[in-house]
Amino acid sequence: MRTVTLSAPDDIDAWRSAARALIADHVAPERVVWQVGDAPADLFAETPAAATAPAPASTFRVPRAFLSLADDAALHRDPQRFALLYTLLWRLRDAPRLTDDHADPLVRRLEELAKAVRRDIHKMRAFLRFRSVEEADGATRYVAWFEPDHHIVRANAAFFVNRFASMRWSILTPEVSLHWDGAALAQGPGAARADAPEGDPVEEVWKTYYASIFNPARVKVGAMLKEMPRKYWKNMPETALVPQLLATAQARESGMIATAQDRVDTDRVAAGGNVAAAWTALRDEAAGCTRCPLHRPATQTVFGEGPLDAPLMFVGEQPGDQEDVAGRPFVGPAGQVFDRAIADAGIDRAAAYVTNAVKHFKFEPRGRRRIHAKPDAGEIDACRWWIEQERLLLRPRMTVALGATAARSLFGRAMTIGRERGRVQTLPDGGAAWVTVHPSYLLRLPDPAAKEAEYAKFVEDLKGAQAAMG
Ligand code: URA
Repeated sequence: MRTVTLSAPDDIDAWRSAARALIADHVAPERVVWQVGDAPADLFAETPAAATAPAPASTFRVPRAFLSLADDAALHRDPQRFALLYTLLWRLRDAPRLTDDHADPLVRRLEELAKAVRRDIHKMRAFLRFRSVEEADGATRYVAWFEPDHHIVRANAAFFVNRFASMRWSILTPEVSLHWDGAALAQGPGAARADAPEGDPVEEVWKTYYASIFNPARVKVGAMLKEMPRKYWKNMPETALVPQLLATAQARESGMIATAQDRVDTDRVAAGGNVAAAWTALRDEAAGCTRCPLHRPATQTVFGEGPLDAPLMFVGEQPGDQEDVAGRPFVGPAGQVFDRAIADAGIDRAAAYVTNAVKHFKFEPRGRRRIHAKPDAGEIDACRWWIEQERLLLRPRMTVALGATAARSLFGRAMTIGRERGRVQTLPDGGAAWVTVHPSYLLRLPDPAAKEAEYAKFVEDLKGAQAAMG
Protein backbone atom coordinates (compact mmCIF):
# COMPACT_ATOMS: atom_id res chain seq x y z
CA MET A 1 0.00 0.00 0.00
CA ARG A 2 1.19 3.54 -0.72
CA THR A 3 0.12 6.46 1.44
CA VAL A 4 0.32 9.94 -0.03
CA THR A 5 0.00 12.75 2.47
CA LEU A 6 -0.67 16.16 1.02
CA SER A 7 0.18 19.15 3.14
CA ALA A 8 -3.01 21.09 2.42
CA PRO A 9 -6.48 20.23 1.15
CA ASP A 10 -5.97 22.39 -1.97
CA ASP A 11 -2.41 21.26 -2.73
CA ILE A 12 -3.02 20.37 -6.36
CA ASP A 13 0.65 20.60 -7.30
CA ALA A 14 1.61 17.98 -4.74
CA TRP A 15 -1.29 15.79 -5.88
CA ARG A 16 -0.15 16.09 -9.48
CA SER A 17 3.47 15.17 -8.79
CA ALA A 18 2.45 12.29 -6.55
CA ALA A 19 0.01 11.03 -9.18
CA ARG A 20 2.64 11.32 -11.89
CA ALA A 21 5.12 9.34 -9.80
CA LEU A 22 2.53 6.67 -8.98
CA ILE A 23 1.56 6.26 -12.63
CA ALA A 24 5.22 5.97 -13.60
CA ASP A 25 5.53 3.30 -10.94
CA HIS A 26 2.38 1.49 -12.20
CA VAL A 27 0.66 1.68 -8.84
CA ALA A 28 -3.01 0.80 -9.22
CA PRO A 29 -5.56 3.11 -7.56
CA GLU A 30 -6.69 0.49 -5.06
CA ARG A 31 -3.15 0.40 -3.69
CA VAL A 32 -3.03 4.11 -2.87
CA VAL A 33 -4.30 5.92 0.21
CA TRP A 34 -4.61 9.67 -0.15
CA GLN A 35 -4.67 11.83 2.91
CA VAL A 36 -4.35 15.46 3.85
CA GLY A 37 -2.42 16.40 6.95
CA ASP A 38 -0.50 19.22 8.51
CA ALA A 39 2.76 17.52 7.75
CA PRO A 40 4.61 18.47 4.57
CA ALA A 41 3.90 16.24 1.59
CA ASP A 42 5.27 12.85 2.45
CA LEU A 43 5.10 10.68 -0.60
CA PHE A 44 5.43 6.95 -0.36
CA ALA A 45 5.66 7.02 3.42
CA GLU A 46 4.87 3.35 3.65
CA THR A 47 6.19 0.27 2.01
CA PRO A 48 6.88 0.78 -1.67
CA ALA A 49 4.62 -1.53 -3.67
CA ALA A 50 5.50 -3.76 -6.57
CA ALA A 51 4.36 -2.88 -10.06
CA THR A 52 0.79 -4.05 -10.67
CA ALA A 53 0.14 -3.19 -14.31
CA PRO A 54 1.73 -3.12 -17.75
CA ALA A 55 3.89 -0.13 -18.41
CA PRO A 56 2.60 2.46 -20.85
CA ALA A 57 3.75 5.22 -18.48
CA SER A 58 6.67 6.57 -20.47
CA THR A 59 4.43 7.24 -23.46
CA PHE A 60 1.39 8.31 -21.46
CA ARG A 61 0.44 11.92 -21.99
CA VAL A 62 -2.13 13.31 -19.63
CA PRO A 63 -4.98 14.80 -21.69
CA ARG A 64 -5.56 18.52 -21.25
CA ALA A 65 -9.23 17.99 -20.42
CA PHE A 66 -8.23 15.89 -17.44
CA LEU A 67 -5.89 18.57 -16.13
CA SER A 68 -8.55 21.23 -16.05
CA LEU A 69 -11.11 18.82 -14.56
CA ALA A 70 -8.58 17.89 -11.88
CA ASP A 71 -7.75 21.51 -11.10
CA ASP A 72 -11.37 22.15 -10.18
CA ALA A 73 -12.44 18.81 -8.71
CA ALA A 74 -9.38 18.64 -6.44
CA LEU A 75 -10.70 21.66 -4.55
CA HIS A 76 -13.94 19.93 -3.56
CA ARG A 77 -14.39 19.08 0.10
CA ASP A 78 -15.24 15.45 -0.76
CA PRO A 79 -12.50 13.37 0.93
CA GLN A 80 -12.64 10.93 -2.00
CA ARG A 81 -11.65 13.51 -4.59
CA PHE A 82 -7.94 12.67 -4.88
CA ALA A 83 -8.63 8.93 -5.06
CA LEU A 84 -11.32 9.46 -7.71
CA LEU A 85 -9.04 11.64 -9.77
CA TYR A 86 -6.24 9.12 -9.58
CA THR A 87 -8.63 6.34 -10.65
CA LEU A 88 -9.64 8.40 -13.68
CA LEU A 89 -6.02 9.16 -14.49
CA TRP A 90 -5.23 5.45 -14.29
CA ARG A 91 -8.09 4.58 -16.67
CA LEU A 92 -7.01 7.31 -19.10
CA ARG A 93 -3.86 5.35 -19.89
CA ASP A 94 -5.98 2.88 -21.86
CA ALA A 95 -8.81 5.23 -22.83
CA PRO A 96 -7.28 8.66 -23.48
CA ARG A 97 -10.65 10.17 -24.52
CA LEU A 98 -12.49 8.95 -21.46
CA THR A 99 -13.07 12.50 -20.20
CA ASP A 100 -15.34 13.04 -23.25
CA ASP A 101 -17.61 10.24 -22.08
CA HIS A 102 -20.04 12.23 -19.99
CA ALA A 103 -22.12 9.10 -19.38
CA ASP A 104 -19.28 7.37 -17.54
CA PRO A 105 -20.20 7.40 -13.82
CA LEU A 106 -16.69 8.35 -12.66
CA VAL A 107 -16.35 11.14 -15.24
CA ARG A 108 -19.81 12.37 -14.31
CA ARG A 109 -19.09 12.36 -10.61
CA LEU A 110 -15.86 14.29 -11.08
CA GLU A 111 -17.59 16.75 -13.38
CA GLU A 112 -20.17 17.34 -10.66
CA LEU A 113 -17.43 17.99 -8.12
CA ALA A 114 -15.73 20.37 -10.53
CA LYS A 115 -18.96 22.18 -11.19
CA ALA A 116 -19.74 22.62 -7.51
CA VAL A 117 -16.26 24.07 -7.05
CA ARG A 118 -16.67 26.49 -9.94
CA ARG A 119 -19.99 27.63 -8.52
CA ASP A 120 -18.40 28.16 -5.12
CA ILE A 121 -15.62 30.18 -6.74
CA HIS A 122 -18.21 32.40 -8.40
CA LYS A 123 -20.20 32.74 -5.19
CA MET A 124 -17.12 33.99 -3.40
CA ARG A 125 -16.57 36.56 -6.17
CA ALA A 126 -20.19 37.66 -6.18
CA PHE A 127 -21.09 37.61 -2.49
CA LEU A 128 -17.95 38.58 -0.63
CA ARG A 129 -18.26 42.06 0.94
CA PHE A 130 -15.48 44.18 2.38
CA ARG A 131 -15.74 46.39 5.47
CA SER A 132 -13.14 49.06 6.05
CA VAL A 133 -10.94 49.31 9.13
CA GLU A 134 -8.30 51.89 9.95
CA GLU A 135 -4.79 50.54 10.37
CA ALA A 136 -2.12 51.81 12.77
CA ASP A 137 -0.56 53.98 10.04
CA GLY A 138 -3.94 55.59 9.32
CA ALA A 139 -4.41 53.75 6.03
CA THR A 140 -7.59 51.87 5.27
CA ARG A 141 -7.73 48.11 5.10
CA TYR A 142 -10.78 46.34 3.69
CA VAL A 143 -11.64 43.16 5.52
CA ALA A 144 -14.14 40.51 4.44
CA TRP A 145 -15.41 37.34 6.04
CA PHE A 146 -16.41 34.45 3.81
CA GLU A 147 -17.38 30.82 4.43
CA PRO A 148 -16.77 28.79 1.27
CA ASP A 149 -18.19 25.31 0.77
CA HIS A 150 -14.97 24.01 -0.78
CA HIS A 151 -11.21 24.63 -0.62
CA ILE A 152 -11.32 27.51 -3.08
CA VAL A 153 -9.87 30.46 -1.22
CA ARG A 154 -6.28 30.28 -2.42
CA ALA A 155 -7.39 29.40 -5.93
CA ASN A 156 -9.51 32.56 -5.95
CA ALA A 157 -6.76 34.84 -4.61
CA ALA A 158 -5.56 36.05 -8.02
CA PHE A 159 -9.05 37.27 -8.88
CA PHE A 160 -9.17 39.52 -5.80
CA VAL A 161 -5.59 40.69 -6.30
CA ASN A 162 -6.46 41.78 -9.84
CA ARG A 163 -9.81 43.28 -8.97
CA PHE A 164 -8.64 45.17 -5.89
CA ALA A 165 -4.97 45.64 -6.72
CA SER A 166 -4.63 49.11 -5.25
CA MET A 167 -6.45 48.43 -1.97
CA ARG A 168 -5.11 46.84 1.16
CA TRP A 169 -7.40 43.98 1.96
CA SER A 170 -7.79 40.80 3.99
CA ILE A 171 -10.13 37.93 3.33
CA LEU A 172 -10.80 35.84 6.41
CA THR A 173 -12.21 32.33 6.12
CA PRO A 174 -12.36 29.41 8.57
CA GLU A 175 -9.55 27.57 6.75
CA VAL A 176 -7.11 30.25 5.67
CA SER A 177 -6.74 34.02 5.52
CA LEU A 178 -5.35 36.10 2.67
CA HIS A 179 -3.73 39.51 3.18
CA TRP A 180 -2.87 41.90 0.34
CA ASP A 181 -0.86 45.03 1.04
CA GLY A 182 -0.99 46.46 -2.48
CA ALA A 183 2.20 44.67 -3.52
CA ALA A 184 2.39 41.19 -2.03
CA LEU A 185 0.00 38.49 -0.95
CA ALA A 186 0.49 36.80 2.42
CA GLN A 187 -1.38 33.86 3.86
CA GLY A 188 -2.34 33.27 7.45
CA PRO A 189 -4.26 30.73 9.47
CA GLY A 190 -8.04 30.43 9.43
CA ALA A 191 -10.12 32.91 11.37
CA ALA A 192 -13.50 33.26 13.06
CA ARG A 193 -16.38 35.46 11.99
CA ALA A 194 -15.85 37.61 15.07
CA ASP A 195 -12.39 38.58 13.73
CA ALA A 196 -14.01 40.52 10.89
CA PRO A 197 -15.58 43.94 11.43
CA GLU A 198 -19.30 44.59 10.94
CA GLY A 199 -20.84 47.54 9.10
CA ASP A 200 -19.07 50.62 7.74
CA PRO A 201 -19.38 53.26 5.01
CA VAL A 202 -18.15 50.99 2.22
CA GLU A 203 -21.56 49.34 2.52
CA GLU A 204 -23.12 52.40 0.93
CA VAL A 205 -21.37 51.55 -2.32
CA TRP A 206 -23.00 48.14 -2.38
CA LYS A 207 -26.36 49.47 -1.33
CA THR A 208 -26.36 52.05 -4.11
CA TYR A 209 -25.33 49.44 -6.60
CA TYR A 210 -27.90 46.91 -5.48
CA ALA A 211 -30.71 49.44 -5.46
CA SER A 212 -29.74 50.41 -9.01
CA ILE A 213 -29.99 46.88 -10.35
CA PHE A 214 -33.01 45.87 -8.28
CA ASN A 215 -35.98 45.13 -10.53
CA PRO A 216 -39.23 45.45 -8.61
CA ALA A 217 -41.24 43.85 -11.41
CA ARG A 218 -39.36 40.62 -11.00
CA VAL A 219 -39.36 40.14 -7.27
CA LYS A 220 -39.35 36.48 -6.45
CA VAL A 221 -38.19 36.05 -2.90
CA GLY A 222 -37.69 32.31 -3.26
CA ALA A 223 -35.50 32.77 -6.31
CA MET A 224 -33.55 35.55 -4.62
CA LEU A 225 -32.88 33.35 -1.62
CA LYS A 226 -31.75 30.58 -3.90
CA GLU A 227 -29.40 32.86 -5.82
CA MET A 228 -27.99 34.39 -2.69
CA PRO A 229 -28.18 31.62 -0.09
CA ARG A 230 -29.03 32.88 3.40
CA LYS A 231 -25.55 31.91 4.51
CA TYR A 232 -24.22 34.88 2.50
CA TRP A 233 -27.01 37.32 3.22
CA LYS A 234 -25.75 38.21 6.68
CA ASN A 235 -22.47 39.41 5.18
CA MET A 236 -24.13 41.46 2.46
CA PRO A 237 -25.10 44.99 3.41
CA GLU A 238 -27.43 45.45 0.46
CA THR A 239 -29.71 42.70 1.72
CA ALA A 240 -30.78 45.10 4.46
CA LEU A 241 -32.48 47.02 1.65
CA VAL A 242 -34.55 44.10 0.49
CA PRO A 243 -37.55 44.43 2.86
CA GLN A 244 -37.82 48.11 2.02
CA LEU A 245 -37.44 47.49 -1.71
CA LEU A 246 -40.05 44.75 -1.57
CA ALA A 247 -42.42 46.96 0.36
CA THR A 248 -42.23 49.68 -2.24
CA ALA A 249 -41.97 47.36 -5.24
CA GLN A 250 -45.56 47.83 -6.33
CA ALA A 251 -45.31 51.58 -6.32
CA ARG A 252 -42.01 51.57 -8.11
CA GLU A 253 -43.05 49.11 -10.76
CA SER A 254 -44.95 51.54 -12.96
CA GLY A 255 -42.10 54.00 -13.08
CA MET A 256 -39.46 51.32 -13.17
CA ILE A 257 -38.22 51.52 -16.71
CA ALA A 258 -37.76 55.24 -16.86
CA THR A 259 -36.24 55.36 -13.39
CA ALA A 260 -33.88 52.49 -13.93
CA GLN A 261 -32.85 53.80 -17.31
CA ASP A 262 -32.26 57.28 -15.94
CA ARG A 263 -30.16 55.78 -13.24
CA VAL A 264 -28.11 53.76 -15.68
CA ASP A 265 -27.59 56.86 -17.80
CA THR A 266 -26.51 58.81 -14.75
CA ASP A 267 -24.19 56.02 -13.80
CA ARG A 268 -22.68 55.93 -17.25
CA VAL A 269 -21.83 59.59 -17.09
CA ALA A 270 -21.04 60.07 -13.44
CA ALA A 271 -19.49 56.84 -12.36
CA GLY A 272 -18.15 55.57 -15.64
CA GLY A 273 -17.49 52.12 -14.35
CA ASN A 274 -20.77 51.50 -12.58
CA VAL A 275 -22.50 49.86 -15.52
CA ALA A 276 -19.46 47.66 -15.92
CA ALA A 277 -19.48 46.82 -12.21
CA ALA A 278 -23.19 46.03 -12.32
CA TRP A 279 -22.77 43.89 -15.44
CA THR A 280 -19.82 42.03 -13.89
CA ALA A 281 -21.77 41.31 -10.73
CA LEU A 282 -24.74 40.20 -12.81
CA ARG A 283 -22.56 37.84 -14.83
CA ASP A 284 -21.00 36.48 -11.62
CA GLU A 285 -24.42 35.88 -10.12
CA ALA A 286 -25.62 34.18 -13.28
CA ALA A 287 -22.65 31.83 -13.04
CA GLY A 288 -24.24 30.34 -9.94
CA CYS A 289 -27.79 30.32 -11.32
CA THR A 290 -29.95 27.38 -10.27
CA ARG A 291 -33.33 28.80 -11.34
CA CYS A 292 -34.08 25.80 -13.53
CA PRO A 293 -32.71 22.25 -13.73
CA LEU A 294 -30.63 23.00 -16.85
CA HIS A 295 -27.73 24.13 -14.67
CA ARG A 296 -27.14 20.58 -13.47
CA PRO A 297 -25.80 18.78 -16.53
CA ALA A 298 -24.39 21.93 -18.17
CA THR A 299 -20.72 22.75 -17.78
CA GLN A 300 -21.28 26.40 -17.00
CA THR A 301 -23.48 29.44 -17.47
CA VAL A 302 -22.75 31.11 -20.80
CA PHE A 303 -23.39 34.79 -20.29
CA GLY A 304 -23.55 37.54 -22.90
CA GLU A 305 -20.44 39.27 -24.17
CA GLY A 306 -19.56 42.46 -25.96
CA PRO A 307 -19.22 46.19 -25.29
CA LEU A 308 -21.65 47.47 -22.68
CA ASP A 309 -22.47 50.50 -24.82
CA ALA A 310 -23.19 48.37 -27.91
CA PRO A 311 -26.08 49.80 -29.93
CA LEU A 312 -27.01 46.33 -31.23
CA MET A 313 -27.81 43.32 -29.06
CA PHE A 314 -28.20 39.88 -30.60
CA VAL A 315 -30.11 37.26 -28.67
CA GLY A 316 -29.74 33.60 -29.62
CA GLU A 317 -31.50 30.57 -28.21
CA GLN A 318 -29.07 28.85 -25.85
CA PRO A 319 -25.40 27.84 -25.86
CA GLY A 320 -24.58 24.76 -27.88
CA ASP A 321 -22.10 21.99 -27.13
CA GLN A 322 -19.05 24.11 -27.99
CA GLU A 323 -20.33 27.24 -26.28
CA ASP A 324 -20.99 25.21 -23.13
CA VAL A 325 -17.36 24.17 -23.01
CA ALA A 326 -15.87 27.51 -24.11
CA GLY A 327 -18.16 29.61 -21.88
CA ARG A 328 -18.84 32.04 -24.77
CA PRO A 329 -21.89 32.52 -26.98
CA PHE A 330 -21.92 31.68 -30.68
CA VAL A 331 -18.50 30.12 -31.11
CA GLY A 332 -19.64 26.77 -32.60
CA PRO A 333 -21.09 25.95 -36.03
CA ALA A 334 -24.12 28.28 -35.66
CA GLY A 335 -21.70 30.95 -34.48
CA GLN A 336 -19.72 30.60 -37.69
CA VAL A 337 -22.83 31.16 -39.81
CA PHE A 338 -23.73 34.10 -37.57
CA ASP A 339 -20.25 35.62 -37.89
CA ARG A 340 -20.30 35.30 -41.67
CA ALA A 341 -23.79 36.74 -41.99
CA ILE A 342 -23.23 39.78 -39.78
CA ALA A 343 -19.96 40.47 -41.60
CA ASP A 344 -21.85 40.25 -44.93
CA ALA A 345 -24.39 42.66 -43.47
CA GLY A 346 -21.58 45.08 -42.64
CA ILE A 347 -21.86 44.64 -38.86
CA ASP A 348 -18.79 44.33 -36.68
CA ARG A 349 -19.35 41.55 -34.14
CA ALA A 350 -16.84 43.15 -31.79
CA ALA A 351 -19.06 46.23 -31.60
CA ALA A 352 -22.22 44.24 -30.80
CA TYR A 353 -23.39 42.53 -27.64
CA VAL A 354 -24.18 38.85 -28.17
CA THR A 355 -26.16 36.80 -25.69
CA ASN A 356 -28.72 34.02 -25.39
CA ALA A 357 -32.27 33.71 -24.10
CA VAL A 358 -31.29 30.63 -22.09
CA LYS A 359 -27.88 30.63 -20.48
CA HIS A 360 -27.32 26.90 -20.00
CA PHE A 361 -26.89 24.24 -22.67
CA LYS A 362 -29.86 21.86 -22.82
CA PHE A 363 -29.00 18.51 -24.31
CA GLU A 364 -29.75 14.83 -24.37
CA PRO A 365 -26.79 12.49 -23.96
CA ARG A 366 -26.46 10.01 -26.80
CA GLY A 367 -23.43 7.84 -26.25
CA ARG A 368 -20.57 10.26 -25.97
CA ARG A 369 -22.43 13.00 -27.81
CA ARG A 370 -24.62 15.68 -26.35
CA ILE A 371 -27.51 16.41 -28.66
CA HIS A 372 -29.08 19.87 -28.57
CA ALA A 373 -32.58 19.92 -27.06
CA LYS A 374 -34.97 22.86 -27.35
CA PRO A 375 -35.59 24.76 -24.12
CA ASP A 376 -39.22 24.68 -23.02
CA ALA A 377 -41.35 27.67 -22.03
CA GLY A 378 -40.62 27.16 -18.32
CA GLU A 379 -36.87 27.19 -18.92
CA ILE A 380 -37.12 30.26 -21.15
CA ASP A 381 -39.16 32.07 -18.52
CA ALA A 382 -36.81 31.04 -15.72
CA CYS A 383 -33.94 32.61 -17.64
CA ARG A 384 -35.77 35.77 -18.70
CA TRP A 385 -34.62 37.67 -15.63
CA TRP A 386 -31.03 37.63 -16.86
CA ILE A 387 -31.77 38.93 -20.33
CA GLU A 388 -34.00 41.62 -18.88
CA GLN A 389 -31.16 42.73 -16.63
CA GLU A 390 -28.72 42.69 -19.54
CA ARG A 391 -31.09 44.90 -21.56
CA LEU A 392 -31.68 47.19 -18.62
CA LEU A 393 -27.96 47.75 -18.18
CA LEU A 394 -27.02 48.05 -21.85
CA ARG A 395 -30.14 49.72 -23.23
CA PRO A 396 -29.31 48.72 -26.83
CA ARG A 397 -30.88 50.79 -29.58
CA MET A 398 -31.95 47.58 -31.32
CA THR A 399 -32.34 44.04 -29.98
CA VAL A 400 -32.31 41.30 -32.60
CA ALA A 401 -34.11 38.07 -31.71
CA LEU A 402 -32.48 35.18 -33.54
CA GLY A 403 -35.22 32.58 -33.79
CA ALA A 404 -38.36 31.63 -31.91
CA THR A 405 -36.82 31.02 -28.48
CA ALA A 406 -35.22 34.46 -28.37
CA ALA A 407 -38.48 36.04 -29.56
CA ARG A 408 -40.46 34.12 -26.91
CA SER A 409 -38.08 35.32 -24.24
CA LEU A 410 -37.99 38.95 -25.32
CA PHE A 411 -41.70 39.38 -26.09
CA GLY A 412 -43.02 37.00 -23.43
CA ARG A 413 -45.19 35.18 -25.98
CA ALA A 414 -44.85 32.72 -28.85
CA MET A 415 -44.19 34.39 -32.21
CA THR A 416 -44.21 33.15 -35.79
CA ILE A 417 -40.89 34.25 -37.20
CA GLY A 418 -41.97 34.10 -40.85
CA ARG A 419 -44.79 36.53 -40.12
CA GLU A 420 -42.95 38.93 -37.83
CA ARG A 421 -39.50 39.11 -39.36
CA GLY A 422 -38.06 42.07 -41.21
CA ARG A 423 -39.67 45.04 -39.47
CA VAL A 424 -39.23 46.99 -36.25
CA GLN A 425 -41.15 45.56 -33.31
CA THR A 426 -41.74 47.05 -29.90
CA LEU A 427 -40.75 45.06 -26.86
CA PRO A 428 -42.93 45.03 -23.73
CA ASP A 429 -40.51 47.50 -22.11
CA GLY A 430 -40.77 49.88 -25.08
CA GLY A 431 -37.41 49.00 -26.64
CA ALA A 432 -36.98 48.43 -30.38
CA ALA A 433 -36.53 44.87 -31.60
CA TRP A 434 -36.14 42.98 -34.85
CA VAL A 435 -36.99 39.35 -35.35
CA THR A 436 -35.27 36.97 -37.73
CA VAL A 437 -34.36 33.32 -38.05
CA HIS A 438 -31.76 31.49 -36.00
CA PRO A 439 -28.51 30.75 -37.88
CA SER A 440 -28.82 27.04 -37.10
CA TYR A 441 -32.01 27.01 -39.19
CA LEU A 442 -29.78 27.71 -42.19
CA LEU A 443 -27.46 24.88 -41.20
CA ARG A 444 -30.35 22.44 -41.15
CA LEU A 445 -31.68 23.22 -44.64
CA PRO A 446 -30.77 20.22 -46.83
CA ASP A 447 -31.20 21.90 -50.21
CA PRO A 448 -28.18 24.06 -51.19
CA ALA A 449 -30.29 26.46 -53.29
CA ALA A 450 -32.79 26.98 -50.43
CA LYS A 451 -29.88 27.40 -48.04
CA GLU A 452 -28.37 30.08 -50.24
CA ALA A 453 -31.68 31.91 -50.62
CA GLU A 454 -32.45 31.78 -46.88
CA TYR A 455 -28.95 32.95 -46.06
CA ALA A 456 -29.43 35.97 -48.33
CA LYS A 457 -32.74 36.75 -46.58
CA PHE A 458 -31.04 36.45 -43.21
CA VAL A 459 -28.33 38.91 -44.28
CA GLU A 460 -31.04 41.30 -45.55
CA ASP A 461 -32.79 41.05 -42.15
CA LEU A 462 -29.57 41.92 -40.36
CA LYS A 463 -28.98 44.87 -42.65
CA GLY A 464 -32.55 45.97 -41.99
CA ALA A 465 -32.07 45.80 -38.24
CA GLN A 466 -28.97 47.94 -38.46
CA ALA A 467 -30.59 50.47 -40.77
CA ALA A 468 -33.65 50.70 -38.52
CA MET A 469 -31.47 51.89 -35.62
CA GLY A 470 -31.19 55.22 -37.39
N1 URA B 1 -26.91 28.79 -30.70
C1 URA B 1 -27.36 29.79 -29.93
O1 URA B 1 -28.52 30.16 -29.95
N2 URA B 1 -26.50 30.40 -29.18
C2 URA B 1 -25.24 30.08 -29.10
O2 URA B 1 -24.52 30.69 -28.34
C3 URA B 1 -24.80 29.03 -29.93
C4 URA B 1 -25.64 28.39 -30.71
